[in-house]
Amino acid sequence: MPFYHKLGNIPPKRHTQFRKENGSLYYEQLFGTIGFNGMSTNSYHEQRPTQVKEIKKQYSVAPKIAKKNHMQSYRLKGFQVKPEDDYLESRKAVLTNSDCTIILAAPKQSTTDYFYKNADADEMIFVHKGSGKLRTHLGNLDFKYGDYLIIPRGIIYKIDFDTQDNRLFIVESRSPIYTPKRYRNWFGQLLEHSPYCERDLRRPYELETNNESGDFLMKVKKQGDIFDMVYASHPFDVIGYDGYNYPYAFSIHDFEPITGRVHLPPPIHQTFETNTFVICSFVPRLYDYHPKAIPAPYNHSNIDSDEVLYYVDGDFMSRNDIEQGHISLHPAGIPHGPHPGATERSIGKTETQELAVMVDTFKPLMVTEEAMKIADEDYYKSWLEH
Ligand SMILES: [Fe+2]
Repeated sequence: MPFYHKLGNIPPKRHTQFRKENGSLYYEQLFGTIGFNGMSTNSYHEQRPTQVKEIKKQYSVAPKIAKKNHMQSYRLKGFQVKPEDDYLESRKAVLTNSDCTIILAAPKQSTTDYFYKNADADEMIFVHKGSGKLRTHLGNLDFKYGDYLIIPRGIIYKIDFDTQDNRLFIVESRSPIYTPKRYRNWFGQLLEHSPYCERDLRRPYELETNNESGDFLMKVKKQGDIFDMVYASHPFDVIGYDGYNYPYAFSIHDFEPITGRVHLPPPIHQTFETNTFVICSFVPRLYDYHPKAIPAPYNHSNIDSDEVLYYVDGDFMSRNDIEQGHISLHPAGIPHGPHPGATERSIGKTETQELAVMVDTFKPLMVTEEAMKIADEDYYKSWLEH
């Protein structure tokens, strides 16, 4: 997270004595990324954060690949992913490469029996349906429809849902997820032409500090495996912290669209960046206002990046027969563009209500077995004139 945040109690000087009422020391932890060069947080714990009691079992959750090399546009019907009780079991990886994994999930129940930590990847959770509270060792965030939750790698979390009707679009990123560099000045402050600013980013506001000892199950994901680790102290035992490395939320409804007289390219929709892919938000906006403007996009050849669109709400102008929860995958190497009729249909329209999340990856994505269960394999022929 590109700005400083402080929650709870911390001593005035880092790495100095910070004592409890009984005179004993709090346990300090520096929690950083990219060695000691990335963003970090300094947290103070009731108990040692290192008390592993037992490593119970290890099992793989790595995506199973159905199509490794391919040249096919796919449509995935995301809402056909079946709801499941458990949060982790509900996560179905549909597209993946060595940089990122795209996951659909419809969890019915809150996590109660375990804590979760992804040591492999930052997580972006887009909330399509549902509301609740993300609870982490660095504080809690409320979430609802339209929220992006950014959870840096290593954050220990639980997730509480208000109801059983939840739909999540998740991206795991092997490299950190940041706000786009071109929207930041040299100090990191978001610039005036950024489509959102710091006020739109919600930081953890509520810290849970437990000082319990016992058996606490933490499921830690590393190298595609989950390790069931039992800790001797409650993982949410932070009395205070400060720094730059913490989870935060941003609502897609707070993304201010950038518009122009003629069609502007996808970078204007960019919301987050990594070294290996970008995340963009397509939001309700006024259309291009040149008197002869064509609001639908032109055909384009993304020769060196795969394009994934997740359709959230509204009519998506360039596509026919696309519904909520659908994913389209347009692979690198071949052009794609508006469906037949979409270009003419767009002329004269003054605004759109479309809402979608786009993930463009620089490396090709592989299609998983889970994706094939919900795939429309004829989608690649959908540009043919009938
Ligand atoms: Fe495209």
